Amino acid sequence: MLTLTAVAEDPLVLTRRLDLNDGSEVVFRPLTHTDADHLAAFLEGLSAESRRLSTFNGYDLAAARELCDAIARYDKLRLVLDEVPSGRIVGLLEFSLDLHSADIARYRRAGIRLAATDCRFGPTLADDYQGNGVGTQVFPLIADVARRFGKKRIILLGGVLADNSRAIRYYEKQGFQTVGAFTGADGVRALDMILDLHLPLGR
Ligand SMILES: CC(C)(COP(=O)(O)OP(=O)(O)OC[C@H]1O[C@@H](n2cnc3c(N)ncnc32)[C@H](O)[C@@H]1OP(=O)(O)O)[C@@H](O)C(=O)NCCC(=O)NCCS
Repeated sequence: MLTLTAVAEDPLVLTRRLDLNDGSEVVFRPLTHTDADHLAAFLEGLSAESRRLSTFNGYDLAAARELCDAIARYDKLRLVLDEVPSGRIVGLLEFSLDLHSADIARYRRAGIRLAATDCRFGPTLADDYQGNGVGTQVFPLIADVARRFGKKRIILLGGVLADNSRAIRYYEKQGFQTVGAFTGADGVRALDMILDLHLPLGR
């Protein structure tokens, strides 16, 4: 089974090239310590709407450095999509390998007992990469990463905002099921969704 240390020591274990439907290519790979500048450009480029739908601690070089410094610390695994050949980061795919007590409590209320074999996931694509099927094309790689970390189910990091109809449709397409709804600390309505990795992906 893979560990965060093993991935940090050899990012190539999770690095894959992916041919997109439009004929272009991206590289799917773990975030590395040398990515701060490219990651800052990605965060800075996110529109106000993308920042509303997918929230980070900041959208500048300091925030990017924080994410790079967190590699192999805590429970986070972050992967990126590089545009080929520019090397521009066009996606940030985040896993949290540990569960949050608030998530455990919410899912339990919905009758689901979360376990150490569950993980949390949240994707963000650059604005010009959204809505073109890229998220769907990359999802089998995401599911493969989760399985290689010994995970059997994926839930959403912080849920998905109830008005984020594209993301909800996206998750449903990958086979996620809605478990319930909750109101976050900011008073905004969100949905919990879960994917069982034993079931065939996609619909
Ligand atoms: C969510 C995200 C990762 C999905 O990736 P993507 O490449 O855009 O998704 P896809 O194009 O593969 O699939 C989107 C689906 O939603 C549909 N869709 C697009 N806009 C929609 C809308 N407004 N309402 C409902 N469905 C919509 C698309 O038609 C497609 O479904 P289809 O293939 O059946 O036609 C990406 O859009 C993103 O990064 N969004 C901004 C950040 C965000 O919302 N992250 C999730 C936080 S929980």
